[in-house]
Amino acid sequence: MKMESEVLLAPNLTGNSRDASPWRDDFPALHQSVHGKPLVYLDNAATTHKPDVVIEAEAAFYRRDNANVHRGVHLLSQRATDAYEAAREKVRHFINAASTREIVFVRGTTEAINLVAQSHARPRLTDADNIVISAMEHHSNIVPWQMVCAQTGAELRVVPVNDAGELDMEMCARLIGPNTRLVAITHLSNALGTITPAARIIELAHAQGVPVLLDGAQAISHLGVDVRALDCDFYAFSGHKIYGPTGIGVLYGKEALLEAMPPYQVGGDMIRSVTFGETEYNELPYKFEAGTPNIAGAIALGAALDYVGGIGIAAIAAHEHDLLAYATGLAQNIEGLRIVGTAQHKAAVLSFTLDGVHPHDIGTILDHQGVAIRAGHHCAMPIMQRFGIAGTARASFALYNTRAEVDALMAGVIKAREMFQR
Ligand code: ALA
Repeated sequence: MKMESEVLLAPNLTGNSRDASPWRDDFPALHQSVHGKPLVYLDNAATTHKPDVVIEAEAAFYRRDNANVHRGVHLLSQRATDAYEAAREKVRHFINAASTREIVFVRGTTEAINLVAQSHARPRLTDADNIVISAMEHHSNIVPWQMVCAQTGAELRVVPVNDAGELDMEMCARLIGPNTRLVAITHLSNALGTITPAARIIELAHAQGVPVLLDGAQAISHLGVDVRALDCDFYAFSGHKIYGPTGIGVLYGKEALLEAMPPYQVGGDMIRSVTFGETEYNELPYKFEAGTPNIAGAIALGAALDYVGGIGIAAIAAHEHDLLAYATGLAQNIEGLRIVGTAQHKAAVLSFTLDGVHPHDIGTILDHQGVAIRAGHHCAMPIMQRFGIAGTARASFALYNTRAEVDALMAGVIKAREMFQR
């Protein structure tokens, strides 16, 4: 008798052409074994692997150009400055911002959101005001707003989600009111995979004169992001989720808004002149880049954006869409598996629970099959509470994943279920 796993997976192990990813060989870390099994890396929402061109860009900076930026007259410093500023231009181009003055290098999405909370929102908030977020935000797009509300007495309003994990847009329209000072919403949920109707949210908010921040930590590598077409006021993302290094990210802000904001941190590089009487701040975007920046990280992020741009987001999205549809189809056939997050518009994330098996146990059993996923609340505890669960197992896809890897995931899930049924 065939095991369920064989029956379920047999039709798909026949060498379908979509089993391949033409970009897989660009990623050296994927070609290894873990626990004696070929690595199947499906934890891309946590961080992506890096292609050789990104690793080389970072190494080349330290091998050849290593110097501080905006400071030295010597050749190495000029080369470092040119490469750092060229990376800023690559970011500008990638998200179609109007000017490099609107591109602030930060450590990542979390720092970008904290910057906007403290520098834009805090001076504008009173106890009569409110900030609107959604029920499916990552903690990084909840806690900075909670903090600024505690500091100012403002109210935090939360747009609910339906059972599919989609925003309740009627409530969204109702919650954005005359005293709303900012709307901060994810562009793509890390826990559910929901793509939010960002353009509609921005339209609703702008109708009330309210600026919108989009948390693009996940969206940046899966959706085409055009900040001018979206007309968002702030956009935050991290380099490491788009095949770049950790410790570098971007805050995009409309120039007039950034211009009106005080610096977030103070110190070197964001200063034009200092006396003990007063300090004049540097111009945008340097006003927000205190201290020596992550020069190598920015340059390597530029290489990552070149890499992604060279493939094209449309090709990446089509590949990942195929994987998600394929994985969803298989998952729906597994007894006891419940997909958490079934929005009509989704990308790259399959979150699920399995009857009688704790997500951490699923994660551990999969790890021993070589399959890396994330298990738990995914730093989005409120949305787990909304679904009445402590956490999920989450597989998240990137351009280098294959259908054969999805098969390995599902075989591991079935194995987990069989082990716990005994
Ligand atoms: N925010 C990252 C995730 O979803 C860490 O895994």
